[in-house]
Amino acid sequence: MSQLEIRPLRKLSAEFTVPGDKSISHRGIMLGGIAHGTTRIRGFLPGEDCLSTLHAFQALGCRVDRVAPDEVVMEGRNGHLLAPAEPIDCGNSGTTMRLLAGMVAGQPFTTRLFGDASLSRRPMARIAEPLRLFGAEIECEGTGDRPPLTIRGQQLKAITFKSKVASAQVKSCVLLAALQAQGKTDFSEPSLSRDHTERLLPAFGATFRKEKNHLIMHGPQRLEGTDLEVPGDFSSGAFWIVLAAGLPGSKLTLRRLGLNPTRTALLSALLRMGAGIVEKVEEPLPEPIGTVYVEGGSELRATTVGGREIPALIDEIPILAAAAALAKGITEIREAEELRHKESDRLAVMAKNLRLFGVPVEERPDGLAIEGGRSLVGAEVESHGDHRIAMSCAILGLLAKGKTLVKDTDCIETSYPGFAKQIALLQELGR
Ligand code: S3P
Repeated sequence: MSQLEIRPLRKLSAEFTVPGDKSISHRGIMLGGIAHGTTRIRGFLPGEDCLSTLHAFQALGCRVDRVAPDEVVMEGRNGHLLAPAEPIDCGNSGTTMRLLAGMVAGQPFTTRLFGDASLSRRPMARIAEPLRLFGAEIECEGTGDRPPLTIRGQQLKAITFKSKVASAQVKSCVLLAALQAQGKTDFSEPSLSRDHTERLLPAFGATFRKEKNHLIMHGPQRLEGTDLEVPGDFSSGAFWIVLAAGLPGSKLTLRRLGLNPTRTALLSALLRMGAGIVEKVEEPLPEPIGTVYVEGGSELRATTVGGREIPALIDEIPILAAAAALAKGITEIREAEELRHKESDRLAVMAKNLRLFGVPVEERPDGLAIEGGRSLVGAEVESHGDHRIAMSCAILGLLAKGKTLVKDTDCIETSYPGFAKQIALLQELGR
């Protein structure tokens, strides 16, 4: 099991790009896989999660060529996937399992989906419920509606479904099933979750109506292969944005970063905290791409996040908690109970790790209250196999006094290959 040894970073002055967006890379493969004809994806994230999706589509009969580590050319199956010879391993990836379930629910064969220990603890009732309404037969073999999943695909009938959670995985699962279902599917969610599926579907020729968090789609629909360019993953850029904001004298430029507003609420939270950040969108469609400039040194102050803001910074809460550790006053994170169902229980794990860095934290059922502004002390912490916890703690280590050891860091490969190398490079430049 690998670990990261981190020394404090003295200064940061850098300009770079981060690897491709994970959510968009998954969706590119899935829509390309079911479409008619060729799809080319540039800027594909070669992280383990997206490779799980890529291998799944090979198992479902698609020809997929990795023409470069970050470029994929694939032949879609024009709506007709092939029955996989074996159960499909979704690895650590909730997006692979939940979206794929929607895709195979309308195919005339049985698919079994399983994952690693962390994925096997994640709730699947949220997708099993709408898929059963569509007419698919789904068995969640783990206790409490957990994986593995066995899905007996059927001819689907459109549904009306109001999701209780603002989850892009639930929304996308429903939309992928709706593409194959007969009739009008009507979907709504309590507030808007990331909208990558809705942005990509028209590029593949799909049509639907959308008003805020309400969608209507008529099925079945045939998709046409297309060319996609995947921007840098905002969730990966977020680690460096917080590092630069917290390090006096730093200057950071992140180029070709995904700036989809359903993903970037971290920037609004950091601006409220007094951080020196400028965001510039250069290409608005289909996914906003641009540059983020950060200047460190402003004194950060506490803020509160909650409500509708949560889905737009759901994956950034661990790194926001790290920013809160630097900000004077008590930062409150509210209505974020979903964090307990991610790759780890991110509220419990961040509370525990922040305390090890010398930060007073109150853990609440739906969030955290973090008292920031004291100096951080280097610590020995566990990632609990969660990539975003590992990377957030590495950033805390760069900002702390003394040595930090982050244990169990193999998980970083799921979303950010090259993260440790980037730290080594910044250490070298900061000497
Ligand atoms: C994702 C949606 C979010 C997010 C996950 C990726 C997606 O999950 O946390 O990392 O690509 O649709 P939820 O839908 O469970 O909020």
